[in-house]
Amino acid sequence: MPVELESLLMESRVFDSPQAFREHATIRDANIWKESDREFEDFWARWATELSWFRKWDRVLDWKAPNARWFVGGRLNASVNCLDRHLTTPRRTKAALIWEGEPGERRTLTYWDLYRQVLRFANALKALGVKRQDRVAIYLPMVPELVVAMLACARIGAVHSVVFAGFSAEALKDRIQDSSACLLITADASYRRGRLIPLKRFADEAVAQCPSIRRVVVFKRSGMEIEFSAKRDLWWHELMRETACECPPEEMDAEDTLYILYTSGTTGKPKGIVHTTGGYLTGVTATTQWVFDLKENDVYWCTADIGWVTGHSYVVYGPLACGATVVMYEGAPDWPDRGRFWKMVEEHGVSVFYTAPTAIRSFMKWGAEWPERHDLSSLRLLGTVGEPINPEAWVWYYKAIGREQCPIVDTWWQTETGMIMITPLPGITRMKPGSVTRPFPGIRAELLNVKGERVEEGGGYLAITRPWPAMLRSIYGDHDRYVKEYWSKWKGDIYFPGDGAKRDRDGDFWILGRVDDVLNVAGHRIGTMEVESALVDHPRVAEAAVVTRPHDVKGEAIVAFVTLKEGGEHNDHLSGEIREHVAKKIGAFARPEEVIFSHDLPKTRSGKIMRRLLRDIAAGKVLGDTTTLADPVVVAELKERYEAQYGA
Ligand code: PRX
Repeated sequence: MPVELESLLMESRVFDSPQAFREHATIRDANIWKESDREFEDFWARWATELSWFRKWDRVLDWKAPNARWFVGGRLNASVNCLDRHLTTPRRTKAALIWEGEPGERRTLTYWDLYRQVLRFANALKALGVKRQDRVAIYLPMVPELVVAMLACARIGAVHSVVFAGFSAEALKDRIQDSSACLLITADASYRRGRLIPLKRFADEAVAQCPSIRRVVVFKRSGMEIEFSAKRDLWWHELMRETACECPPEEMDAEDTLYILYTSGTTGKPKGIVHTTGGYLTGVTATTQWVFDLKENDVYWCTADIGWVTGHSYVVYGPLACGATVVMYEGAPDWPDRGRFWKMVEEHGVSVFYTAPTAIRSFMKWGAEWPERHDLSSLRLLGTVGEPINPEAWVWYYKAIGREQCPIVDTWWQTETGMIMITPLPGITRMKPGSVTRPFPGIRAELLNVKGERVEEGGGYLAITRPWPAMLRSIYGDHDRYVKEYWSKWKGDIYFPGDGAKRDRDGDFWILGRVDDVLNVAGHRIGTMEVESALVDHPRVAEAAVVTRPHDVKGEAIVAFVTLKEGGEHNDHLSGEIREHVAKKIGAFARPEEVIFSHDLPKTRSGKIMRRLLRDIAAGKVLGDTTTLADPVVVAELKERYEAQYGA
């Protein structure tokens, strides 16, 4: 991280949006920040008015820190806002989803098509006994049925809990158990780089330990042979054949839960982040329109998997609530070759493209010749999210993909915030490679030191000092943890996101990364403790500590330090086995890059593992202060072993 920090501190290039873009941008007046700050409740209420409500709210905000209720007394339905209200306009026949499967097939669903599918599936859910606020787990690849399933839950007031299809059976089981979901929706398999991933098999493994699940609905994606329980399992296509295409929406309270999405924290147990309906839709609508400068004829492509929050907010709810045309792709960016994304941009005429720094670094490594083979002139705005972007990758993105014609919005936010919080407004913000610039209008973000004092310039902790509509309301089943993890670092009304940041002389924010035990690998959030628990679960492992080191493409890579049980012999085979064990327990994206064996781990005299030292070893740096170390020999030995294995 310090290397990264240094380069950010030295970055001084600035870029203005191209004149042609600025002239047509939705937001051209910089007064917007001042105005929205002065009367922030009115600001959000104006956005909420854009939505369709069954009953208008009585009060915009009820804030008894750290508990917020937005649009109190209002009633609405998220699926109506994403579908029905477009049907009385020309959007009725507009493409809502343009989907490409990895093998190359294409499907386009208009708003009308999507509406009909959602209603049918909503009826199927009802017929299966799913009721308001019941939890429904969804473990699907990036297929239109995933969007249909989410909106169908919303239609009948059920709470969806989407689990990224890259998670293992075990991770799926934990999430189902925590939410006590009554139904699981999955597919026979998913495609990844031409291979079939047996999702249904993982789902079966998980469900065997989940007594709350009564039925499993299976979407046939590939025709792969699967085990099918006649008593428990149902085919998606058979259910859809039998259901009616009429389903009045449930009138939901603005504060009813729309979904739960699990994310990693500092303990081994993932947190079910709770998002509600009215405020969330307001927040994602506002940010989709202004951050992406959305226009009626845009073709919008956010490459995130819907299994993560970026997909929830900026593939599904934000863009559909805005009536956008959304491109959705099932597979890998380098399948069948490294030009897949650019071929898609050209063929679908994508105009707004939103992706992650880790992807940009891969594109950069693969070389500009891939995008150069395609006509990318339809692009007019680029975005990035998920982790700090190094200025070099930013500039490459700007030139090779954006041809210096597209502003880049580097958007900071989190699963918990639900919506983009700090970001350029593309028509007016002066962009700086690596900086997320300023809070979105209506949002108040600051830098604080440990004591909670404001830092005007320099480094500190990022803090959100005012409630915002899409904010998380709780951690499912553990409100105490919600209070403790997010609202207790300073006074109880200041939100602590867990990130360190820097503010420059102009007041712009530069995110430096997590300051807690949360890792960010390729834009995926993984808890240190989750990986460590997975490691010690291996029968040969006695103790483990996990850190990250900088990585060219992933941003950070996981390095695991492992002590074996008595008499254990280590070798490459065991190292591979242990790495696989983590992949099996959590998912392939959490597989450690390296495993270092040691007869002991460096600890303080009070027995705490000194991760700082391990981080230095993993990064190949000179060792830091070892004066508090119980056994300095351990460190020297570890460093030697690391260098022998991986080079200094
Ligand atoms: O550390 C920040 C980083 O990703 C974390 C949130 O992860 P998650 O909840 O998985 O959501 C990711 C997608 C919204 C943050 O605490 N992060 C997110 N966006 C940025 C970022 N770091 C730097 N720059 C960003 N634009």
